[in-house]
Amino acid sequence: MRGRLLSLFIITIFTITLITGCAQVTSPSNQPEPKPSQLSPDLVDSTPYLESFLVKRGAAVQEALNYSDITSITVLVNKQNHLSDDYVPPDLVEPNIPFTFAEKAEKRLLRQEAASHLEELFTVAQENDIILYGVSGYRSYQTQEYLFQYFVQRDGSEEKANQISARPGESEHQTGLAMDVTSESVNFGLIESFGDTKEYEWLKDNAHLFGFVVRYPQGKEHITEYTYEPWHLRYVGQELALKLYENNMSYEEYLFFRI
Ligand code: DAL
Ligand code: ZN
Repeated sequence: MRGRLLSLFIITIFTITLITGCAQVTSPSNQPEPKPSQLSPDLVDSTPYLESFLVKRGAAVQEALNYSDITSITVLVNKQNHLSDDYVPPDLVEPNIPFTFAEKAEKRLLRQEAASHLEELFTVAQENDIILYGVSGYRSYQTQEYLFQYFVQRDGSEEKANQISARPGESEHQTGLAMDVTSESVNFGLIESFGDTKEYEWLKDNAHLFGFVVRYPQGKEHITEYTYEPWHLRYVGQELALKLYENNMSYEEYLFFRI
């Protein structure tokens, strides 16, 4: 009887997992796993089986992705994974796209692969009457240091500044794989209302086709640890971008969360 109940329970969980897929992934903070004491007595004994039965997707993709190799296009850079102060990407080039400024500057640069895919994205966007502009690409560690201090002065504390600006070594811009973009409809600014424009609407659903993702999406702030940035595009390659898009997941969720 106990064995049949356990089998029935496992089949039910498996079916729910298949039906709901990844859409049901929630952060541990807003839906904690029940402690054994909160489970009904019949289920307590089965929790070890359940643990090993559920697919550990995060663990599986960690093995497949080069997220800790700083020269990989799938490198993970965030508040826990830093770049050193002397890291400069190996193959920086200037993409042929319009920028919001005229001067020659490091912020025009991206790594070769990201640059050519961004050019394609801008071209196809234009064919669809979506006119985008580049604002800020590569930033050295030292530039990020300066920028972060600017936000600390402006916002009054490191903690506040760090909600919108990365500490030096923690910015994706240092990888040469991120580009902030904007449009005339928001006066060429990097502001949240860019997320309400037709330009963002197009980007949200098409950027992955060119290997880019919106890295700090709305509703994932507790996971990415940054406020919503509809303008910040990160190149991760088409394969991974498609996975993140299809699963509606931030990179952190995809790498580390269990479903
Ligand atoms: N605004 C993003 C988080 C950065 O500073 O890299
Ligand atoms: Zn950015």
